[in-house]
Amino acid sequence: MQLRTTVVFISTLVILLPGATVEGHNITSILAKFPEFSTFNHYLTITHLANEINNRQTITVCAVNNAGMSDLLSKHLSVYAMKNVLSLHVLVDYFGAKKLHQITNGTSLAATIFQATGTASGSSGFVNITDLKGGKVGFGSEDSGTTDVTFVKSLQEVPYNISVIQISSMLPSAEAEAPTPEPAAVNITSLMSAHGCKNFADALLASDAMKTYDDDIDGGLSVFCPLDDAFKGFLPKYKNLTVAGKQSLLEYHGVPVYQSMSMLKSNNGLTNTLATDGASNYDFTVQNDGQDVTIKTSIVTAKIVGTLIDQQPLVIFTIDKVLLPKELFKRAISPAAAPAPVAGAPKASKKKHKYPPAPASSESPADSPDDASADQEADSNNGVGIKGFKVGALALSFWVASLVT
Ligand SMILES: *[C@@H]1O[C@H](CO)[C@@H](O)[C@H](O)[C@H]1NC(C)=O
Ligand SMILES: *[C@@H]1O[C@H](CO)[C@@H](O)[C@H](O)[C@H]1NC(C)=O
Ligand SMILES: *[C@@H]1O[C@H](CO)[C@@H](O)[C@H](O)[C@H]1NC(C)=O
Ligand SMILES: *[C@@H]1O[C@H](CO)[C@@H](O)[C@H](O)[C@H]1NC(C)=O
Ligand SMILES: *[C@@H]1O[C@H](CO)[C@@H](O)[C@H](O)[C@H]1NC(C)=O
Ligand SMILES: *[C@@H]1O[C@H](CO)[C@@H](O)[C@H](O)[C@H]1NC(C)=O
Repeated sequence: MQLRTTVVFISTLVILLPGATVEGHNITSILAKFPEFSTFNHYLTITHLANEINNRQTITVCAVNNAGMSDLLSKHLSVYAMKNVLSLHVLVDYFGAKKLHQITNGTSLAATIFQATGTASGSSGFVNITDLKGGKVGFGSEDSGTTDVTFVKSLQEVPYNISVIQISSMLPSAEAEAPTPEPAAVNITSLMSAHGCKNFADALLASDAMKTYDDDIDGGLSVFCPLDDAFKGFLPKYKNLTVAGKQSLLEYHGVPVYQSMSMLKSNNGLTNTLATDGASNYDFTVQNDGQDVTIKTSIVTAKIVGTLIDQQPLVIFTIDKVLLPKELFKRAISPAAAPAPVAGAPKASKKKHKYPPAPASSESPADSPDDASADQEADSNNGVGIKGFKVGALALSFWVASLVT
């Protein structure tokens, strides 16, 4: 009986799931149709840029063929610098072949993901597109001051959604190629401990949440770390949580996307966290309050009071209160409810939304479950799912690590 209910629940999920992602692009599968772009495509995947591209509504990808990639590869950039270089090749506007040849006044500056993620300084995240003589279109990073890379052909156009074009070679940019520190080398708990968040760091070290944090650093991680005064006052309640509840609470303080202070300020809205999975939202709202940025759960409003580190893809902020998710604390108010629903069951099968950009204005990515949720739910009773997931994540980090060295 119990089993049947579960099966019905799972099949409902499976039927509902495709609707959540049907409108997204898939740059990986678009480029897979063109084998001469396999290297470019490969690096979009390992730098996680493919996800950022797929999550954007309007985008132009300026791809370079395998021959054109060899110069870049010979520079042996770290995966992080590689991400910056490639993100300069992703324009956050739609440029099909037609539009490229009809640029107003013959020249235009296009913002890129490199610019949008806040890593680029000054104008270095912009690409200058200029209509050259003889029907040619030239491209150049704004910091290089050149436009001698040219448009070759259009690979795929879905008007005003995604355009994938070929350009003659990679855009030179000293800034994008500059060495980027490896955030994996940062010991985040000792950094926290040394800067007023020892209680939070100790809790993290004692929980499986630490693994989740570690696994997410490479792909982008923003941490909201409660200062000691706040966490000390919260300790009695924390100790009352189950092991799974503690893990969820700690994961609730991390967001699997790099978001600098300026990105948070301009990107207010509902945000998923490391604790988010198909069954539980575990989200909060980022909201400006004058010059401050606040994090609102339905129970508490915390304020960002400092920044411990800001090195893409890792940023750690300090906050003045512990974030209390309604999934763990709402029921505590009503004495009628037993302490049972402390998010234990969904937690046993960890399945996170890896890329929740989550601006309030956009199409509410917060509650769209992803494909694997149903399988993960099914596994939650025997604990098999989490092992497969962790092993996969581990293998991936080894793969990335071997590429970095
Ligand atoms: C995109 O397509 C590739 C295969 O071409 C597939 O492996 C991947 O899961 C797809 N990604 C998404 C987000 O659907
Ligand atoms: C094009 O040039 C005209 C005249 O110089 C100027 O007024 C207009 O703002 C320009 N348009 C764009 C989009 O730059
Ligand atoms: C783009 O570069 C060309 C050549 O360097 C320059 O003439 C043009 O003004 C630049 N366009 C913009 C919008 O900055
Ligand atoms: C472009 O994206 C919008 C919004 O996601 C979608 O409604 C529309 O169907 C897409 N257009 C095409 C041609 O796929
Ligand atoms: C980070 O530092 C903590 C002490 O704060 C230590 O327990 C932990 O093992 C260190 N982690 C790594 C990966 O070195
Ligand atoms: C801890 O749980 C017990 C039993 O449910 C409850 O009586 C007590 O008030 C809780 N303490 C805190 C600090 O929430």
